[in-house]
Amino acid sequence: MHASKRLSYIGVSPTMKVSAKAKEMRRKGIDVIDFSVGEPDFPTPENVKNAAKKAIDENRTKYTMNVGTPELRKAIVDKLKRDNNLDYDISDIVVSSGAKQSLFNTILSMLYVGDELIIPAPYWVSYPHMVSVAGGESVIIKTNEKNGFKITVDELKSAITPFTKGILLCNPSNPTGTAYTVNELKQLAEFLEDLDIYIIADEIYEKLTYGDYKFVSFASLSEKLKKKTIVINGVSKAYAMTGWRLGYAAGPPEIINGINKIQSHSTSNASSISQYAAIEALNGPQDAVEKMRKIFEERKNYLYSELTKIEEITCINPQGAFYLFPNIGKFFGKAYGSYIIKNSVDLSLYLLEEAKVALVPGSAFGLEGYVRISFANSMDNLIEGVKRLKSALAKLQ
Ligand SMILES: Cc1ncc(COP(=O)(O)O)c(C=O)c1O
Repeated sequence: MHASKRLSYIGVSPTMKVSAKAKEMRRKGIDVIDFSVGEPDFPTPENVKNAAKKAIDENRTKYTMNVGTPELRKAIVDKLKRDNNLDYDISDIVVSSGAKQSLFNTILSMLYVGDELIIPAPYWVSYPHMVSVAGGESVIIKTNEKNGFKITVDELKSAITPFTKGILLCNPSNPTGTAYTVNELKQLAEFLEDLDIYIIADEIYEKLTYGDYKFVSFASLSEKLKKKTIVINGVSKAYAMTGWRLGYAAGPPEIINGINKIQSHSTSNASSISQYAAIEALNGPQDAVEKMRKIFEERKNYLYSELTKIEEITCINPQGAFYLFPNIGKFFGKAYGSYIIKNSVDLSLYLLEEAKVALVPGSAFGLEGYVRISFANSMDNLIEGVKRLKSALAKLQ
């Protein structure tokens, strides 16, 4: 028997080797410090948990509309107006089981066989696989550290073909933490405004920004752009609600209706209880978000300052998300005992075994020569982890 040929288009994540090894070590009782995590280490705020408990007690346990309850979509409309100066109607919003599903269903609604989606690298691991499932082609633009991992208009121009259907912009970025200024966004917007292509704006890290960076939603740059932009956001990262699986898309009717159609034959609605929790997250007090953001910023400052003390490492100072993406290329060609470092997977496996620190190789995100280090971890773990990293890296000759 053979499974579907479709599976041959979807790769297994290259991070698997490192994360499987980290899991196995932990199972054996080895104290591994996990810098590979992609979720806040905080609990969901109390007011949000209480709203969910209330929803259960009030038996809000039935199917909802596939696109989400009108109350939640109204809360999302209000949020997009309040935070992003965007005017949407509730019919422009569809709620999904996590922003990941919002993205997946957006891509399925947008791309047909042979259609191209431009994706700047390094990218969030799932994007190209989603494109493959849809039968589309990913056109990868490799950004570079000198530009702060941001695409330029010239790079974008040269990636456009007659088959281009859209571009995916993740801002702030996972895995680099880079964030586009309003002027940089405007330059891209000016070029994209008159083209017949969609923009998928993954803005899931919107609330986690640092220093004096000011987040601007891509769709808010002009009315013309808004008509072809699909804003992707959710409650996972801002409200420490990754397990609740609640995300949303706002955009033009042909895509929003497409997502609705796909959901109506697959998952139907996002969990009703999570939808009630999300209403409270968006409408309720926002002080927990700021509290978490501040803690992330302290950790980021610590980790950035310690890592950049290591002579071989260069790193951009992230303005968003909760990752650092240091350049570790200078360790390539070095060795310690039986370890020979040829690439970011080798270095990650070495650091896992020698330092007992788990991180993610840059190749997983489509850019070799880097690793991703998450600071969604306690300060104690960061301090101990940095000590271990420094000591293991110093052994490489
Ligand atoms: C860039 C990016 N987009 C989307 C998601 C999906 O988030 P959710 O938990 O809402 O599915 C993630 C989660 O890691 C992410 O990093």
